[in-house]
Amino acid sequence: MLEAVADALPTIFREVLPDCGLVLGSGWGDVLNPEAVLARVPYAELAGYGASTVEGHHGELLLMMLGGRRVVAFSGRRHYYEGCGLEQVVYPVELLRCLGVRTVLLTNAAGGLNPAFLPGDLMVVEDHLNLSGVNPLRGPHRPEWGPRFPDMTHVYDPQLAETLLRLGGERVRRGVYAFSVGPSYETPTEVRALRALGGDAVGMSTVPEAVLAHACGMRVAALSCITNLAAGLGGTPLSHEEVLAESAAAKPRMAALVRAFVCAI
Ligand code: HPA
Repeated sequence: MLEAVADALPTIFREVLPDCGLVLGSGWGDVLNPEAVLARVPYAELAGYGASTVEGHHGELLLMMLGGRRVVAFSGRRHYYEGCGLEQVVYPVELLRCLGVRTVLLTNAAGGLNPAFLPGDLMVVEDHLNLSGVNPLRGPHRPEWGPRFPDMTHVYDPQLAETLLRLGGERVRRGVYAFSVGPSYETPTEVRALRALGGDAVGMSTVPEAVLAHACGMRVAALSCITNLAAGLGGTPLSHEEVLAESAAAKPRMAALVRAFVCAI
């Protein structure tokens, strides 16, 4: 569906076959330090997408050399809570698919549900919990997006997850990401319920993108920066400022891990 958008990008996007796609969420937008930026396109120029309305989210599509790899990065994303459609939420994945990208790393900020997690930890997503009723594959079946009823046993490629864990060192955890539509944070009861159901962290993104990317055959990896203890676990009210401040402190570790991952794939 976004073939026309892909065709309208600077020609270099189609001349190089990118090795990897990145979607950079809250706090991850400017962590990278690429060797070269080959092209930049503001989201306002991407037909049908639109600028992110969230503070801390940049709004640029970048083609870069990072760790010797050709990387297409979405710096900033749209969220379902912004009121946009799921087409916008999964737009980065669909555009990456049109560009021939086979491996994608999705990043986000999340609240810790697992009592062992501390703000500043990074979590390699091994599975997700989606009780939201939101599914990007709803609607007429599109064969280019895979089967009508795609298997979700391994949404997050186990090999890529192991690579992230091996490269990440200490303060890198593994766990289940629970999707919460937002924009309000969870209540303490919702936090206890998500924990009891197997969640290790909770956040407002990533899952719709991962479902589509996996359904259409991409290898998917995802990383959360744990920016706070989920509601009721830490004793203080949650705020977006706290989320941004905690992710700023973790930036050097986030940058190093993304670079090492891109080099390793
Ligand atoms: N809940 C949902 N989304 C989040 C949180 C949280 O506690 N922290 C960062 N994003």
